[in-house]
Amino acid sequence: MVEQIDVSARAAAIEYAIRDVVIPAVELEAQGHEIIRLNIGDPLAYEGLPTPEHMVASFKAALDRQDNGYGPSYGIPELRSAIASAESAKGWDCSADDVYVTHGVTEALQVIFAAFLEEGDAVLVPGPHYPPYMAYPQMYGGTTLEYRLDPDDGWRIDLDDIRSKMNDSVRLLVLINPNNPTGNVASPEEIDSLIEIAASWPKCTIIADEIYDGLDFTGHQCSVASRSDSASVIVLNGVSKVYFAPGWRVGYMAWHDPKGTLGAVRDGVERLLRSRLCASTPAQHGFLAGLADDSGWLSDHRDRIRRRMDYCLERIASIDGLECEAPGGAFYLFVRITNPELATDDKAFVLGLLHQHHVLVVHGSGFSPEFGSGHFRMVCLPSVEVLAEVFDRIEAFLRG
Ligand SMILES: Cc1ncc(COP(=O)(O)O)c(C=O)c1O
Repeated sequence: MVEQIDVSARAAAIEYAIRDVVIPAVELEAQGHEIIRLNIGDPLAYEGLPTPEHMVASFKAALDRQDNGYGPSYGIPELRSAIASAESAKGWDCSADDVYVTHGVTEALQVIFAAFLEEGDAVLVPGPHYPPYMAYPQMYGGTTLEYRLDPDDGWRIDLDDIRSKMNDSVRLLVLINPNNPTGNVASPEEIDSLIEIAASWPKCTIIADEIYDGLDFTGHQCSVASRSDSASVIVLNGVSKVYFAPGWRVGYMAWHDPKGTLGAVRDGVERLLRSRLCASTPAQHGFLAGLADDSGWLSDHRDRIRRRMDYCLERIASIDGLECEAPGGAFYLFVRITNPELATDDKAFVLGLLHQHHVLVVHGSGFSPEFGSGHFRMVCLPSVEVLAEVFDRIEAFLRG
């Protein structure tokens, strides 16, 4: 065999459970099997959840008028203003200058970690959590620590666990609200406590990943920035989930700095953003149209998702061997495997289900070895007919 050139340790360490399980699925597809994929949170892969027409039209119009050049590094001014208005409407004073448009929230995360972290710094994230919060900090010398979400109490935040893990090296405290993969929505009281904790550590900034905020079924989801006059907060959001356009790759960060301590790090972020040029220009016009609309269409999409989620919860409740805390938002179910033998190796469970019954879900340990193992995550976005087939197959797998 030809000797291979070394890969960097940082790239070799990257894992992304949601896409890693696709490799065996693709092999099965190549053999002619049809796989029901429930691994990726992409509404466009499922029936009845399209990107709204008016957003698509605005994206297309930008292409037609040759608005295809590089844009300003922090985002086109109209979009920055519209995002600032949308954030201000959530209850805090956001100006266009506080907004930076990125190539999705994912790019915003990389930029934030690059600007905040030095060797030995930590990022404290919910356990379980969306995998890039584990994968990226290590690229910048940081480590990811997890705080516990209570699996027996709707994945409520364990505030004492956060308190016990805070110290000066925790530079970023992350709240994903609603959370992926568990769907828990933090109450205003939980958010206030989290802000109070962060505020007592002057080097700590809160990341509030609110990318699922419009998909809240509890009625109590609220903006973290709107509740903080002490801790600094970086709000993350974009078109991927609530605007049903994940392939456009547009998101943003909005900086709330009530104590004025983030000037230097913000300068670093701006340098990084200038050096990577800009986010997609026509896609930004598409997002702008979404923000300008009254978004009445969203309630239809949300109701459809809710019906599908309710169907899943009913089926799970009727299946011996599975349990699930009802999510408060987003479109995932984080399902507990109750049979201890099957639960000890959740990846083997997922691969068994894939090979024997051609249903693709993601192992819970991919979202947190400590707090997610013994579970699997599935999206609840397919039509009820497809979901009925999914649960019939899962039942057959558990019987077998
Ligand atoms: C919590 C969370 N944040 C961010 C993202 C990705 O956002 P974007 O598509 O804007 O990069 C996801 C995608 O699943 C997510 O679940």
